[in-house]
Amino acid sequence: MEWFKVVAFVVCVLPTAHCASDSIAWCYHLPSCNDTTWPSIPPHYCSGSRQSPIDIVSASATPNDKLTEFTFFKYDNTSAMTSIENTGDTVKVTLSGVKISGGDLSEQYDSLQFHLHWGNGSSVPGSEHTVDGKRYPMELHIVNSKSSYNGNTSLAVKDSTGLAALGFFIEVMPGNSTGQPQSWRNLTSYLANVTQKGQKVSIAAGFSLDDLLVGVDRTKYYRYLGSLTTPACNEAVVWTVFKEPIKVSKDLIDLFSTTLHFNDSMSPLMTNVYRSLQPAQKVWTQSIKASASTTCFSLGLLLLSLTLGWSWS
Ligand SMILES: *[C@@H]1O[C@H](CO)[C@@H](O)[C@H](O)[C@H]1NC(C)=O
Ligand SMILES: *[C@@H]1O[C@H](CO)[C@@H](O)[C@H](O)[C@H]1NC(C)=O
Ligand SMILES: *[C@@H]1O[C@H](CO)[C@@H](O)[C@H](O)[C@H]1NC(C)=O
Ligand SMILES: *[C@@H]1O[C@H](CO)[C@@H](O)[C@H](O)[C@H]1NC(C)=O
Ligand SMILES: *[C@@H]1O[C@H](CO)[C@@H](O)[C@H](O)[C@H]1NC(C)=O
Ligand SMILES: *[C@@H]1O[C@H](CO)[C@@H](O)[C@H](O)[C@H]1NC(C)=O
Ligand SMILES: *[C@@H]1O[C@H](CO)[C@@H](O)[C@H](O)[C@H]1NC(C)=O
Ligand SMILES: *[C@@H]1O[C@H](CO)[C@@H](O)[C@H](O)[C@H]1NC(C)=O
Ligand SMILES: [Zn+2]
Repeated sequence: MEWFKVVAFVVCVLPTAHCASDSIAWCYHLPSCNDTTWPSIPPHYCSGSRQSPIDIVSASATPNDKLTEFTFFKYDNTSAMTSIENTGDTVKVTLSGVKISGGDLSEQYDSLQFHLHWGNGSSVPGSEHTVDGKRYPMELHIVNSKSSYNGNTSLAVKDSTGLAALGFFIEVMPGNSTGQPQSWRNLTSYLANVTQKGQKVSIAAGFSLDDLLVGVDRTKYYRYLGSLTTPACNEAVVWTVFKEPIKVSKDLIDLFSTTLHFNDSMSPLMTNVYRSLQPAQKVWTQSIKASASTTCFSLGLLLLSLTLGWSWS
């Protein structure tokens, strides 16, 4: 009955959701190792003071003019997703040659991988962050590491801003559509190849990160300083949580919790793979000034046009 992992003295190449240096047993689904036990795992980062995820209170987010647009380098490359793997805690896609900059990050960061968090199908939501108490069905995390560390995440997790995580909520697409969007049909078609822990397959070219992030205005986001959401919970993450969700049809969302297992095919289905909420942190977001000044300008034009008797027709 040991679905949990005991990975002693493993050198961590990607300390994301699923890998922690010198890691000890942790899991989501058993009382003996679920997230209530994580704070006791040495070196006890999970009991720190800037832990993730959090509930984002939209009305309390402080305006910050420095939260400019990001540059997403090669996010349109349809060969950037190289492989997909069942890690036993999530499904992880390895990225190649993609980077981000801007968004008030101190330097360029390499986009190393993305993975997902979910509950139990579209009806039991499992995003990690919540907004004003709302939990979404799923959340996608793109993990980025300072380019100056050249992919060495052991170094990145020792830097309080060594990692930059991009969080995207996923919600059910309205209507009765199935298999939409096409990019998510492409991605989820690989889930059947990685039903068991440790299974990994290559991804064929054909869809890009831009295709997966379809419909999201990436200029609107929340920012706070937090941690990895899995042990060792290193407090090394600049969090960006985008306001608009990706819309994916219900059938594709349901595939995650009905296809993947925590371990072998006899083990439970992988469900409720998210950490519970941690204490609030200061959150920033874009200033509303830009749109306010646009409104003032438009109003001014309107008044001017009324005054001068202009017409738009
Ligand atoms: C996973 O399943 C394999 C095969 O049944 C078993 O040998 C192994 O101990 C299991 N691992 C965990 C962590 O439960
Ligand atoms: C985790 O385990 C504790 C008991 O150790 C239990 O009270 C709690 O409900 C569990 N949490 C989850 C999310 O399963
Ligand atoms: C797309 O990414 C692949 C894998 O990193 C790389 O080999 C290829 O050169 C990239 N294509 C472009 C146009 O950048
Ligand atoms: C997930 O949902 C399915 C179907 O609704 C149910 O049978 C199963 O017990 C649920 N799993 C968990 C862990 O709650
Ligand atoms: C990361 O950097 C440290 C310190 O320079 C070094 O000891 C370690 O071998 C590097 N790890 C990898 C995977 O390159
Ligand atoms: C969804 O499907 C149901 C039953 O098949 C149908 O009654 C309903 O009109 C459909 N809704 C939309 C928005 O297509
Ligand atoms: C899905 O993948 C196929 C190749 O398998 C590709 O031709 C198609 O353009 C992709 N579509 C999208 C929107 O990602
Ligand atoms: C995934 O599984 C399908 C069905 O078994 C198989 O046809 C396909 O070749 C597999 N794809 C990869 C990349 O292993
Ligand atoms: Zn994550």
